[in-house]
Amino acid sequence: MRHTPPGLLFPLDEPVRAKPFVKWAGGKQALLDALRPHFPTGCGRYFEPFLGGGSVLFGLAPDHAIVGDRNDWLLDTYEALREDWRAVAAVLDGLPNTKEDYLRIRAVPPESLAPATRAAHFIYLNKTGFRGLFRVNRAGRFNVPYGAYDRRYYDPENLEAVARRLGTVTIRRGDFEDVLGDAVRGDFVYLDPPYAQLGGHSDFNRYTDGPFGPADQERLAARCRRLADLGVGFVLSNHDLPWVRELYEGFEHAVVEARREINLSPSKRSIRELLVLNPAAPER
Ligand SMILES: C[S@@+](CC[C@H](N)C(=O)[O-])C[C@H]1O[C@@H](n2cnc3c(N)ncnc32)[C@H](O)[C@@H]1O
Repeated sequence: MRHTPPGLLFPLDEPVRAKPFVKWAGGKQALLDALRPHFPTGCGRYFEPFLGGGSVLFGLAPDHAIVGDRNDWLLDTYEALREDWRAVAAVLDGLPNTKEDYLRIRAVPPESLAPATRAAHFIYLNKTGFRGLFRVNRAGRFNVPYGAYDRRYYDPENLEAVARRLGTVTIRRGDFEDVLGDAVRGDFVYLDPPYAQLGGHSDFNRYTDGPFGPADQERLAARCRRLADLGVGFVLSNHDLPWVRELYEGFEHAVVEARREINLSPSKRSIRELLVLNPAAPER
């Protein structure tokens, strides 16, 4: 993985560094500088099985990345941008920002649409939906109300940078276990699962049609132990809760904090997360 020296935000060989083009719950944009010192300066392949908005992938810009997420509409959007970001932008240019149009577009099943339109609808709903978040009901249907925001849907320079970056990335479908299936000694994994909830019960992690519950957190911790046995390095982010610390007992822990730029509620102005660290073993 290429290492970005402290203070140098953009590697010299990238004219525009890609940034997330959608807002994503749990996005790591604000924590990136605090996370960076915990990543290795070099590794085999870089895996990110809970990609979300991609802030860490875009921020690290590793040479050889394999990413995934259980949200298929999100991955369809990455693939459509990689294929032809201008086609996605052209569809976005024709989507009006009114409540009536929002409700009409929200009601269209994404699987009925051609790839560029499906991606454009995803970005449009994220930019015009209330608080810019992705949330689905139990049937897996996007159900965020209209947000009435007057903002542009995309930055062409950034969409182009995103498409260029994705050109070097392997995208895999499915559960984190499937994405990590062939990780080997010397590879490195960043894991950012839906937050564990207080008391162990997942209340509202609706990025996908099924919540990520305590059994999934346990399955993930077991998978991390297997990665460590294989010599695969990882950093995992999660809520700093006693039961999460217990799940990862025996690993090194660190706490990272960052202030959010804007949040109306004082209790949400800072973010504090637990990191579980397993250094990468040297490649054989
Ligand atoms: C906290 S978010 C990741 C945020 C990301 N690091 C960012 O900066 O935008 C967690 C992600 O895990 C995905 N997810 C939920 N269950 C999953 C599973 N079983 N396997 C893989 N991804 C899953 C969600 O769709 C969501 O995008």
